[in-house]
Amino acid sequence: MSLVRSERRGAVALLTLDRADALNALDRATLLALEERIAELARDEWVRAVVLTGAGRAFAAGADIAQMRGMTPPEAEAFSRLGHRVFGALEVLRVPTIAAVNGYALGGGCELACSCDWIYASEKARFGQPEVNLGIIPGFGGTSRLARRVGVAMAKEMVLTGAPIPAEEALRIGLVNRVLPPDELLARAMSAGETIASKGPLAIAIAKRVMQEGQDVDPRVAHALEQQAFGLVFATEDRSEGITAFLEKRDPVFKGR
Ligand code: CAA
Repeated sequence: MSLVRSERRGAVALLTLDRADALNALDRATLLALEERIAELARDEWVRAVVLTGAGRAFAAGADIAQMRGMTPPEAEAFSRLGHRVFGALEVLRVPTIAAVNGYALGGGCELACSCDWIYASEKARFGQPEVNLGIIPGFGGTSRLARRVGVAMAKEMVLTGAPIPAEEALRIGLVNRVLPPDELLARAMSAGETIASKGPLAIAIAKRVMQEGQDVDPRVAHALEQQAFGLVFATEDRSEGITAFLEKRDPVFKGR
């Protein structure tokens, strides 16, 4: 059985971390399984959105502490690089990704959620970067991606105190987009995926990419990127269909061309 299950529900793929006995702790094998699932999704032109969740009572309780116990500094650096490689691949997937955080999202689990385009949280979710309790620091992007979501001072408070926060506080600081009853979480995340799937896939992919790339550059460069991309989508059949359908008062049928 795979450590990361992948299933398709229409055009939305659901990935589930499936190591519930260890609260979905991210060991090398789980990271490699996740990488494989991500690579499959990247090749699958029928998938339009991805929802990522965890089996059992955790989303992921972090990097696997037992596996880290005997690591030498070079091994730890390689482990961090592996996590970055996998989370980086998730971040640049052409289709939008939604983390449905069902429980603990601690350490590497919080970093994994932050590698998705946005996060929906169950009322039971708890977020945190508790690495300093172990005498270590975040290693899968927590010193950078978290700060982008919540601002550097809030990220410093989470990383430097190690204190977890409940879902409602995660909502207040902008870490998550919505807090939902546990039994509605997955359905709401899948429904957001279906909404995305009903749009033109090229426009979705280009909008995601421009927003992502635009974060890292001077605003003038971001504006220029947007202008070019805006021109680019006008070369697609989908924009003719979308605009014509609006003017003809009917639903568009996008083909991804
Ligand atoms: N690594 C390995 N195993 C873990 C784990 C982790 N991060 N988190 C939980 N587990 C295991 C526990 O060892 C336990 O296993 P056994 O049943 O075999 O003893 C099982 O999952 C259930 O956990 P608990 O009994 O501890 O459950 P709890 O409800 O009492 O506590 C918890 C839940 C508060 C999340 C607690 O498990 C916990 O504090 N976990 C560690 C959280 C953490 O420190 N995460 C950061 C890891 S470092 C990191 O992520 C670095 C990085 O950025 C790359």
